[in-house]
Amino acid sequence: MFSCILILFLLHTAASFVTKNASGVLSGKDHCVCEIVLPDRTFPAQRVAALEDETQRLGNRVEDEMQKLEEQEIRLESYLDRIINFTFRLERLEKMRPEALVEINYVLLKKELLEMERLVNELKTKLKGNATHVDNLHSEVKNISKIVGQLETMDKNNVLKIQKDMENLKKKLVDCEKNLKAIKTPVTIPLGSCQHRGLARIGKPNIIRVNWKGVGYKSGAWGKDAAWNTTRKLMYWVAPLNVDGRILESVRVYSNLYDMHLNRSAVDVPLAMFMKNKWNYTMAGQGSGMIVHNNHLYYNCYNSRDMCRINLSSFLTQRKTLLNAVFNNRYSYAGVSFRDIDFISDERGLWVLYTTEENAGKLVIGKVNVATFNVDNSWPTTQLKTEVSNAFMICGVLYATRSFSPKQDEVFYTFDTKTGKEVRVSIIMDKISEKVQSLSYNSNDRKLYMYTEGVLMSYDVALKP
Ligand SMILES: *[C@@H]1O[C@H](CO)[C@@H](O)[C@H](O)[C@H]1NC(C)=O
Ligand SMILES: *[C@@H]1O[C@H](CO)[C@@H](O)[C@H](O)[C@H]1NC(C)=O
Ligand SMILES: *[C@@H]1O[C@H](CO)[C@@H](O)[C@H](O)[C@H]1NC(C)=O
Ligand SMILES: *[C@@H]1O[C@H](CO)[C@@H](O)[C@H](O)[C@H]1NC(C)=O
Ligand SMILES: *[C@@H]1O[C@H](CO)[C@@H](O)[C@H](O)[C@H]1NC(C)=O
Ligand SMILES: *[C@@H]1O[C@H](CO)[C@@H](O)[C@H](O)[C@H]1NC(C)=O
Ligand SMILES: *[C@@H]1O[C@H](CO)[C@@H](O)[C@H](O)[C@H]1NC(C)=O
Ligand SMILES: *[C@@H]1O[C@H](CO)[C@@H](O)[C@H](O)[C@H]1NC(C)=O
Repeated sequence: MFSCILILFLLHTAASFVTKNASGVLSGKDHCVCEIVLPDRTFPAQRVAALEDETQRLGNRVEDEMQKLEEQEIRLESYLDRIINFTFRLERLEKMRPEALVEINYVLLKKELLEMERLVNELKTKLKGNATHVDNLHSEVKNISKIVGQLETMDKNNVLKIQKDMENLKKKLVDCEKNLKAIKTPVTIPLGSCQHRGLARIGKPNIIRVNWKGVGYKSGAWGKDAAWNTTRKLMYWVAPLNVDGRILESVRVYSNLYDMHLNRSAVDVPLAMFMKNKWNYTMAGQGSGMIVHNNHLYYNCYNSRDMCRINLSSFLTQRKTLLNAVFNNRYSYAGVSFRDIDFISDERGLWVLYTTEENAGKLVIGKVNVATFNVDNSWPTTQLKTEVSNAFMICGVLYATRSFSPKQDEVFYTFDTKTGKEVRVSIIMDKISEKVQSLSYNSNDRKLYMYTEGVLMSYDVALKP
């Protein structure tokens, strides 16, 4: 876990050297922070899920399992201590004069790398055979060691930049540390489980990076494969609309976080085609209501009420009409255009949110059958769609947001598809810009993914046990 953090940090440090003047207000440095929280949620959570299976099978070994859980808790603590320690050391480093940093910086980096190698090895031993992801970490560490070696010979002006990066990192680490404490009991509700009483609160926004096309591409969506227990848990997708805020020509897929950060090894999945000097938008997307569910991008097809999907491996497409759904900006979400049809994924499967003339612009929730690509069931609500700025679902419960202030949204309305009950609530979430083009939930990491004014962000969510 600790290793992950350092790797991300170093990756960034390395990247800032290599691409000295890469553009973007929000660079990757914000990122390492954000993702610090991630490891202890994905990594132990998976283990706990495995533990739970075992508990079911071997009901009489509960004591045994509890013991293991406790051990994990201790490990978590010790990683936390290390983060704090690292923070202290950075603080000291920050106070040094730049000339002194020229000497010390690399020495420290190298020391950290050695420490990291040691930790990774330790993890490897502990995990015995099941260590593919640790193996990956290991090779990343080695790669970075190499980069650091090369950087050492580079010019000294960079030291000031490093110092700034470290300063930022330090601040972010402190934040993360707080977050880490806040989600001290991350495993009481296993991922994928719906044995809880719904959304409790939404964590602080984590700025990941600007979308790969740049801040000019204000509308779009991004995330990971949101199908529960998908086989593509590491994959990331980014789908910036054209600057018109309407058309989606392609979606970019990265096989992991590092690639997304470095904007490398991407696969661009085309939806629109450029033929005979003209764009053919027949299969293009419209609006930023798309989602990736089980390796398919689901989206509203351009200029129609049709639902489209494309297999991200084979690029095979399919379309189905969403009966009576209004489209072409008839009833969009508040403040954003062309959000007539919004795809949503949660622990219970794939959903589509839309409205009809009969329902007078009030939200309708549809359940999509992914086998037939039909909407099997639908639930009309009493909530006007145009008053809602965005929506997501957790365990079959719809959560709708509205703008609360330029820097805050409020989850204000919920609809439970199991009971048909509608409830007014107030859960505040911070944001960095007024307009939120898309917001979606991922049950695999229990995070919300937001695309706002070209920037990709994520949030941890806490559920009521
Ligand atoms: C990046 O820096 C180089 C010189 O180091 C300069 O020639 C180039 O124009 C800069 N690019 C941008 C985008 O600022
Ligand atoms: C941080 O850890 C190092 C060894 O890993 C130790 O020598 C040092 O005293 C620790 N610093 C603090 C402030 O705990
Ligand atoms: C690896 O994990 C699987 C289940 O995920 C388990 O059956 C197997 O025993 C583990 N192997 C080792 C060497 O721990
Ligand atoms: C390490 O670098 C080599 C090439 O320098 C590359 O092929 C390999 O994929 C890298 N490994 C990781 C885990 O990034
Ligand atoms: C990401 O890569 C693409 C090419 O694959 C390039 O056109 C784009 O400018 C890159 N974006 C950034 C932010 O570097
Ligand atoms: C998740 O998927 C894996 C196979 O990819 C399967 O072995 C495992 O049982 C699934 N876990 C749950 C909780 O469904
Ligand atoms: C546009 O593409 C679709 C298939 O995606 C095709 O059926 C249609 O004929 C194309 N239209 C033109 C004008 O080429
Ligand atoms: C998507 O395409 C891949 C590659 O052709 C194929 O293996 C996979 O089964 C397809 N997925 C679905 C759900 O059809």
